This record gives sequence, C-alpha cells and structure tokens, in this order.
Amino acid sequence: MIGFTDFPVRNKTYAGANGSKISVLYNNALYMLKFPAVPVINKEMSYANGCISEYLGCHIFESIGIPVQKTMLGTYTKNGKQKMVVACKDFTAGGFVLQDFASLKNTIIDSAHNGYGTELSDIVKTLEEQTAIDPKLLTDWFWDMFIVDALIGNWDRHNGNWGFLYHPETDKISLAPIYACGSCLFPQADAEMMRKILDNPAELEIRIFERPLSGIKINGQKIQYFKFISSLENTDCNKALKRILPRIDINKIYKIVDEKPCISDLQKEFYKTMLRERKERILDFSYQKLRKREHSKSQAR
Ligand SMILES: Nc1ncnc2c1ncn2[C@@H]1O[C@H](COP(=O)(O)OP(=O)(O)O)[C@@H](O)[C@H]1O
Ligand SMILES: [Mg+2]
Repeated sequence: MIGFTDFPVRNKTYAGANGSKISVLYNNALYMLKFPAVPVINKEMSYANGCISEYLGCHIFESIGIPVQKTMLGTYTKNGKQKMVVACKDFTAGGFVLQDFASLKNTIIDSAHNGYGTELSDIVKTLEEQTAIDPKLLTDWFWDMFIVDALIGNWDRHNGNWGFLYHPETDKISLAPIYACGSCLFPQADAEMMRKILDNPAELEIRIFERPLSGIKINGQKIQYFKFISSLENTDCNKALKRILPRIDINKIYKIVDEKPCISDLQKEFYKTMLRERKERILDFSYQKLRKREHSKSQAR
C-alpha cells in the first residue's frame, strides 16, 4: 500500500458525509484521499470498511467495462495514528467541473421534488427530458449503474453520487466516471457479523434478497433490488440486465478481492461470497426468467 502522508496537500476540498477527505498531489496528479468513516450502525467497530468498499466497488465497475474513477488503497498517518485510506484520482483535471445528477434534475422545471429526491419516476422523467446528453445514452448509463449497484449491494446511489463533467469554456458536457461506491459491500459489517452471515444461510439470504435497499424509491419506498429486478417490470432495467450480465466475470472479480494483502482472509471470503450469491440469485435468476419470458413470447407468435 502506498503511504500518502508525505505528499503535498492541496487546497481542493470535497463534500460528502462519509468520512473526512483531503487532496494530495501524487505523481503530478491530484488525488482525493478518503478516510474511513466512523461507524454509525455498528458502534463496536473502530472504523467502517468504506475505503475497501470504495476500492472494490470501483474495480468491479472497471472489470465490467464501465468508466470509473481510478482508486488505490493506501495509508495516511494523522496524529500519530496510521489509517487506511482510499485514494481517488480527481477526474476534474483539465478544467472540468463535476455537476451531479441532482443539479441536472433541477433544470427540469416541473419536476415534483427537489434535485436530491430519488423517486424513480422523477429520475426517469429527468433522464428523458433533459437536453444535455443523448437521453438514450443517459438512460442506459443509469440502468447499467443500477444493475452493477445491485451486484455490489450499494445503498447510496443518490443523485449526488453520480454526475457529469462540464467544461465552462467549451460548454461541453459528458458523463463523469463512476465514483462514490463506498456504501457497497456492507461497509459496516465487522468480523463477527461477517462470520455470522457466512455461517448462517438465513442471515445470508437477508443480505441477498432484502438488504441493502437501493437509494432509489418508488412511491416513497426504497427499492428492493431482488424484488424489482426479478419482477422484470421495467423494460430499461431488463435491457441493462441483458447488456451487463454477460460482462460480469466472477473470476476476474475474485482476483480483484484476492490480490489485496491488506484485506483479511475472512473479509475476502465474505466479499466473494456476497458477490457470487448476489450475482447468481439476483442477476442470473432474473436473466433466466427474462429469457424464458422472451422465449415463450416468441413461441406464441
Ligand atoms: N474522483 C473524484 N474526482 C473529483 N471529485 C470527486 C471524486 N470522487 C468524488 N468526488 C466529489 O467528492 C464528493 C464526495 O465524494 P464521495 O465519494 O461521494 O464521498 P461520501 O461517501 O462522503 O459522500 C462527491 O460528491 C463528488 O462531488
Ligand atoms: Mg457521496
């Protein structure tokens, strides 16, 4: 792991509520260093595993072929204490400004809720009515991200956790790489919790079928990934499932987890189990159901 303590600190600052952040110059590039957040659910933990979640989540997006911020795990010593950090390469280099989806949503005048509201119908309306990006491209991007978030169990893809890169001089706008994956893969689970989930099928099933919930809501209720995806009710979601699933290589994902010596064996087993089970029981299951439905429809014709 790279020690970031001695690299020059810059004045770029970052928002967000999960742990403190600073910027440093490393190899002539700007990096945001995210420190581990104080656990809010599990008070027994000294700090949550959000840095590892960020690193793994981003590398899983990358393995699937979706543009994502570059991340590295490292350490930083503050007040004599060494902490694990995740270094996220700042993607605004070259004069770009990050504009989150919430601010794009604010341009849709008759949107019923504010930019940060995550009601799916408002999001979909924005995807379709905004004029910054080709609506089809944006819709595909949103649902591709949704499918991968289902795989990695991300509960925090709110409208501030994805967005666009805007260049004020040229007025050009494009999709920003994926960022903000620190809330995937159960960052608040400690060793005892991981053991319990691995050893107890009922506990494991809760973490596949029920938890975590998505950050996106329908009628004010957070979406349950399994229930929603396997219902096959949303055509754009179905299309994304067909696009993304064949690109998920579980062995590549295992390798991402296995090659990090700073992750304990128990944690590796936990992450690999969660990812395999979520892939098989949410995504593979829904995909097979979809193929069956399409097959019977084509037979009926
Ligand atoms: N790689 C990056 N380059 C530039 N800005 C970033 C990058 N990653 C995140 N940000 C900005 O920093 C904010 C906080 O980062 P995020 O990972 O979402 O932290 P938190 O989990 O605390 O919300 C984001 O909302 C975004 O505005
Ligand atoms: Mg955030």
